[in-house]
Amino acid sequence: MRILAIDTSCDETSAAVLKDDAVISNVVSSQVDLHRKWGGVVPDLARRAHEENIDAAVSEALKRSHTSAQEIDVFAATYGPGLALALKVGLKKGQDLAIKYNKPFIPINHMEGHLLSAFAKNANGKNPKAPTTRDFPMIALLVSGKHTDLVYTKEIGDYTVIGETLDDAAGEAFDKVARMLNLGYPGGPIIEEFAKKGKIGRFPLPVPMEKSDDLNFSFSGLKTACLYKIKDIETKYKSPRFWVYDFCADFLESIIKSLVGKLNRCVTQYQVGGILLGGGVISNVALRKRIRDAMKTRTLPVFTPYNPILCTDNAGMIGLAAFFSFKRKAPYCFTGDAIQSIDRDPAACISHLPVIHPT
Ligand code: KG4
Ligand code: ZN
Repeated sequence: MRILAIDTSCDETSAAVLKDDAVISNVVSSQVDLHRKWGGVVPDLARRAHEENIDAAVSEALKRSHTSAQEIDVFAATYGPGLALALKVGLKKGQDLAIKYNKPFIPINHMEGHLLSAFAKNANGKNPKAPTTRDFPMIALLVSGKHTDLVYTKEIGDYTVIGETLDDAAGEAFDKVARMLNLGYPGGPIIEEFAKKGKIGRFPLPVPMEKSDDLNFSFSGLKTACLYKIKDIETKYKSPRFWVYDFCADFLESIIKSLVGKLNRCVTQYQVGGILLGGGVISNVALRKRIRDAMKTRTLPVFTPYNPILCTDNAGMIGLAAFFSFKRKAPYCFTGDAIQSIDRDPAACISHLPVIHPT
C-alpha cells in the first residue's frame, strides 16, 4: 500500500511517501529562518509559508519515491493538535488530493505520529530495532515544543495520557532559555551543542516537579529560575561569556533529571513491556542515553526512531500512523463526500481517537 502523508502542524511543511510502514521519502521544508528573528513561530507567517511550499513538498516527496500521484492508495494529513492556521493548509491539501484521485483519506493526530515514530522502517523496509506487538503495553514519553506527555499505550490506537505538562512544554523551555541567552531559534539543538562544552554543577538549577507524587511536568518555574540566574551571572561575569557553556550543561541536566525522574515513577506504577520515545527533544543524545541507562536497570527496552529526522516534525511519522489506522479501518478512514467534513482540531487529544468532529 502506498501512502502520501502531509504535516503542517507548526513550522515545518512536510510531505512523505510510504510503502506500508517503510518511509520511502520524507521531505521537510523548514521555516526556521523565517521565524528566527521573532524567537518563536508566528502563526500567520507559518500559514503563508505553508501555502507557498506545500505543492513543492508534495511533488518532491513523490519524485524522490519514484511514485506518481495516481499510484497513491491512501492520502493522510495531520488534523491536530497544532496551530489552527497552519493545520488548515496541509489538511486541505490532503483532502483535495484524496478527492481528486478518488482515494480514501485518513486524518491523523500529530501526537500519535510522534508516538509511533519508532515503528518506522527505512526505505528498504528494515528496522531491526523497531518495537513489536509483543512489547505492549508500553509507556510513551513524548517531548516536543508544545507537549510533554506520558502516554499509557495498551496497543496501537489505544492511548491514555497519564501525565502532561501543567504549563510550558520541555521544548518550549529550551527555546525560551536559548532566547534569554541570545543563542537563536530553535533552542534545543543549540543548547545541546553548548552543553557538550560545559561542566555540570557550576550553576545548579531546580529540578521541576522532583518531589510531586503525580506524573505531571512543569517547566515554567525552571524558566523563571533561569531568568534570575542569568541576570545574576551577567552582573558578575563580563564577556567573553564562557559561563554560557556551563549554564547550558546545568539547564540540560535539570530537564533530563525531571524527565527521567517522572519516567522512573511512571514505570514503578505501571507494568509495561517497553518505552517509546518521540518528539523533537528526543533528538537530544544525552537525554536518550540517560533514559536508556535508567531503564536498563529495570530491563525495559527503549525504542527511538531509526533516524533523528523522525523525532522532529515530519510527515513520515504521519504516514506511519495512517498505515496503522488504515489497518484498523473505520472510523479512521474516510471516503467520498465524508472527506470534506473533516475539520482541523488545534487542541486534539491523543487519549480519545478519533477526535474528529464532522462539520
Ligand atoms: O516535535 P517538534 O519538532 O515540534 C513540535 O511538535 O512541537 O519539537 C520541536 C522542539 C523545539 O522546542 C526544539 O527546541 C526541540 O524540539 N528540540 C530539541 C532538540 N532538537 C529539537 N531539544 C533538545 N535537544 C535537541 N537536540
Ligand atoms: Zn511535533
